[in-house]
Amino acid sequence: MFNLKGRVAVITGASSGLGRQMATGFAKQGADLVLLARRIERLEDLKRELEPLGVKVLPIKCDVTNSAEVDAAASVTELTFGKVDILLNCAGASRDKGALDMNDEEWNFTINTDLTSVFKVTRAFGNIMKKNNYGRIINIASMYGLVGNDKIPTIAYHSSKGGVVNYTRAAAAELAKYNITVNCICPGYFYTELTTDVLQTEDFQAFAKEHVPMQRYGMEGELNAGAIFLASDEASYVTGVILPIDGGYTAV
Ligand SMILES: NC(=O)c1ccc[n+]([C@@H]2O[C@H](COP(=O)([O-])OP(=O)(O)OC[C@H]3O[C@@H](n4cnc5c(N)ncnc54)[C@H](OP(=O)(O)O)[C@@H]3O)[C@@H](O)[C@H]2O)c1
Repeated sequence: MFNLKGRVAVITGASSGLGRQMATGFAKQGADLVLLARRIERLEDLKRELEPLGVKVLPIKCDVTNSAEVDAAASVTELTFGKVDILLNCAGASRDKGALDMNDEEWNFTINTDLTSVFKVTRAFGNIMKKNNYGRIINIASMYGLVGNDKIPTIAYHSSKGGVVNYTRAAAAELAKYNITVNCICPGYFYTELTTDVLQTEDFQAFAKEHVPMQRYGMEGELNAGAIFLASDEASYVTGVILPIDGGYTAV
């Protein structure tokens, strides 16, 4: 079960953090990869690291907020592989400010990067899936797409990730007729190269102990099983699902 050999998986935000981790997880299951991000040199590094596993890897420099670049990436992918089976929308970034302090630029930056990009990338690659009557789309939202928080004021992030959650349900309902499933993973805090320093502070360690039932943050690779399951042939009747992987944070 969960063998991805022969499948073509497109992953946005593959140049670092969770996208890079899940790209590695997919490659270990045998999937060929199309890696999207702006830092092409990091994607080239990952290609060198993963190709020895026997998979094909196509890195594409792409700003996921730019429709022309996204559409061009989809065309190159279709020309190279002739199909897209799996799309993992993982690219994201945030400007953190509160509801009464955030300016228009900060709001638009976050909504464009975290929500509108999911719409643009899914439109471009979903149309290739539709032609082949097969698709597995997985959106990476956040536990903060399900609840608010009183620790870090980050209103646009909550709004965009909440949008991704309900985008997932609406797209699942709409695309089921093309045999395309659309699901969403809501991670809690995970250690990545960008978050590790903050998450290891005394303050954040105390927060984990108090608010996360598992009493710790997510470790490298702990999203992979969920993503691989949703990407697999075996998940053929699973769609519109919102899967928190957050150590129980949203369960209490
Ligand atoms: N880490 C956590 O604790 C956590 C928790 C919940 C949800 N998440 C979500 O998980 C996803 C990945 O987060 P992460 O922690 O792995 O962050 P990260 O290490 O900062 O990675 C973000 C990725 O998104 C890409 N990206 C950002 N803006 C882009 C743009 N305009 N065009 C193309 N690519 C863009 C970056 O690539 P380039 O800079 O090379 O373009 C990078 O590969 C995000 O959606 C985030 O909201 C993370």
